[in-house]
Amino acid sequence: MNAYIGTSTSRIDGRAKVTGAAKYAGEFNIDGLVYGAVVESTIAKGRIKHIDASEALRVRGVLDVLTHQNRPRMADASAAYKDDVAPEEGSPFRPLYDDKIMFSFQPIALVLAEEWETARFAASLVRVEYETAAFTTDLQAQRNSAFVVEKPESHRGNADKAFAAAAVRHEAEYFIPIEHHNAMEPFAATAIWDGGGKLTIYNKTQGVQNVQRYLCSVFNMKPDDLRVRSPFTGGAFGSGLRPQYETVLAVLGAVKLRRPVRLALTRRQVYTVGYRPATIEHVAIGAKPDGTLDAIVHEAIAVTSQHEDFSRNDTAWSGQLYKSPTARYEHRLARVDLPTPCDMRAPGAATGVYALECAMDELAVALKLDPVDLRLRCYSDRDQHTNRPYTSKQLRECYRQGAQAFGWSKRRAAPRSMRDGTELVGWGMASGVWEALQMETAARITLTANGHAEVASAVSDIGTGTYTIMAQVAADLLGLPLDNVTIKLGDSTLPLGQVEGGSWTAASVSHAIAKTAGEIRKELLRLAQAVPDSPLANATVDGVALVDGRIVHKRAPDRAVSIADAMRQGKVDRIEREGTVQFEDDDSHARNTHSAIFAEVKIDEELGVIRVTRVVNAVAAGRILNTKTASSQIMGGVVWGIGMALHEETLLDHRFGRFMNPNIAEYHMPVNADVYDIKVIFVDEPDTRINPMGIKGVGEIGIVGTAAAIANAIYHATGKRVRDLPITLDKLR
Ligand code: MOS
Repeated sequence: MNAYIGTSTSRIDGRAKVTGAAKYAGEFNIDGLVYGAVVESTIAKGRIKHIDASEALRVRGVLDVLTHQNRPRMADASAAYKDDVAPEEGSPFRPLYDDKIMFSFQPIALVLAEEWETARFAASLVRVEYETAAFTTDLQAQRNSAFVVEKPESHRGNADKAFAAAAVRHEAEYFIPIEHHNAMEPFAATAIWDGGGKLTIYNKTQGVQNVQRYLCSVFNMKPDDLRVRSPFTGGAFGSGLRPQYETVLAVLGAVKLRRPVRLALTRRQVYTVGYRPATIEHVAIGAKPDGTLDAIVHEAIAVTSQHEDFSRNDTAWSGQLYKSPTARYEHRLARVDLPTPCDMRAPGAATGVYALECAMDELAVALKLDPVDLRLRCYSDRDQHTNRPYTSKQLRECYRQGAQAFGWSKRRAAPRSMRDGTELVGWGMASGVWEALQMETAARITLTANGHAEVASAVSDIGTGTYTIMAQVAADLLGLPLDNVTIKLGDSTLPLGQVEGGSWTAASVSHAIAKTAGEIRKELLRLAQAVPDSPLANATVDGVALVDGRIVHKRAPDRAVSIADAMRQGKVDRIEREGTVQFEDDDSHARNTHSAIFAEVKIDEELGVIRVTRVVNAVAAGRILNTKTASSQIMGGVVWGIGMALHEETLLDHRFGRFMNPNIAEYHMPVNADVYDIKVIFVDEPDTRINPMGIKGVGEIGIVGTAAAIANAIYHATGKRVRDLPITLDKLR
């Protein structure tokens, strides 16, 4: 019955993407489309004293310039701007709401014109007078004012005391700078009126229903009057979880002019919608000489804005992963005058596990133990934080298979002991961990008598392959060829779908489809049993399966009725069902994915050039629905891990409170020339407890631990420990 699930299936939307038939938010055209351009604040903090748009308005083709003074009405209550993913504490940013400036490059006016070039030129003519206020964008300067936001610090035992008394100790501070997502597709929204005064917004987002609810709340509109669509997303990685300001501005323009409006942000403007927060990580681990742990202390301080408390716990992984009788971990925030940070692939883990896994490597050096061996000595089959078993945890197998595929046994322990010609060679490894989440989700299936099924849910495909895995699951459960399944997603009018994030979509939507396919099967069986002398007369719904266009008795496969016959008998040409899947709150087991990453670097010591020549990432993530798209997810995560380790850093000029490199020329990230051999292994991890199909999700686990494995390899190659990311060549000198 699994013709498609678990196979290497190419994306069903691949052809549309490479031929350009797949349309993105900024590509929906209509006659009379108006183009917007954003005017940005040139100061970091203060207020607008005066905006003079007269010169801009004199440009031919300019229709209007919207500011906080003349914009259409928006909600006044800050609570109206809270979306599904907004931080609990604080007030979301409201574009063009009032005269307050909270960060550099803040949108302060929207120029609307008949052509985009006109709008952009006119935007340069808007004159602004400011009243400036004192500001800071420097995390190091703010670290002493850091505060706890989530919950009181977590601990078991007295970790500080146990650390102080430990025979072998490692303690250090690690740093991750601000990083930006840099998705290929910039944020864009095209707002189009239909004849009846209803608005459709094509938007780059990870959650159409989240954006719809938010816009209805901000503009006091009825759900039926505002539809959000996002059929394709050119990468988002967390930056599209929350509704962003371009969609608010596009609606403001459309409401003001009563015309269709498009707003696409420039690359520089995309840097103001969110970022991975810069984080200071302090880790202290105490151990016995045999490599068992006495204590883990992990404290992090991450930046947030002045107006919202964005918090993703970096430190809880350290309390969970390794066997240690004592642990203390605490995530704190420090305020700076920047936009609110946001989720970026494996938020909290990409950064926190980087620090933990570098610290474990340093501890292995102090203990004179092999890094894999150390991790096996403190391996835990239980979640150490809550003392619960896992629904499944095949991390041990990740270490084994990853090490074997990498050739880890040939590693010489001493730093600087391996060479290839003039290059130093380093081998490093790390563990990865992420959550396996699932969320209430609905699906609608429409089966027609010609053997075609349409499957619809308001989930998103942010490039991860959701279209494809949905089609695979539906095809298998309905017994249809993949080509006979059509997927609809990314439309707020479809059945309930959550934002695509947290690696939860694959598990959630697959089970929504399975549940609904079960309802379809039930109805088909009812029809099949009405066929005269039905061979399925006594069959139960669980006793039959849909296979090759037939309703088949599972234990006696020669007893079958074709779907076409059953539907003809019942005089129906379509069967439509909608089902919602909720996942029980079973707190008895921890749910996580795990990985072991092995990295090889080659370093030209005279130049300091670092190449990541080989990576093996062995992942345990339950059932893999599609080995091709899942491998791509892990590979993408590894590439990002290379960027995190070696390239990525958003630089701030603290004198101006401004990002200095908000463009893909000066913000460095790995290109093809930086990426060599990446091998992805999925270890077998049967899991019947987490959900019926044993699905865990793979969107995020690939980046977790990768930067640490590379940093550890760099230490092994050079004998030099660099704890501040990125490890650029100047830091190796
Ligand atoms: Mo993911 S960072 O939850 O899109």
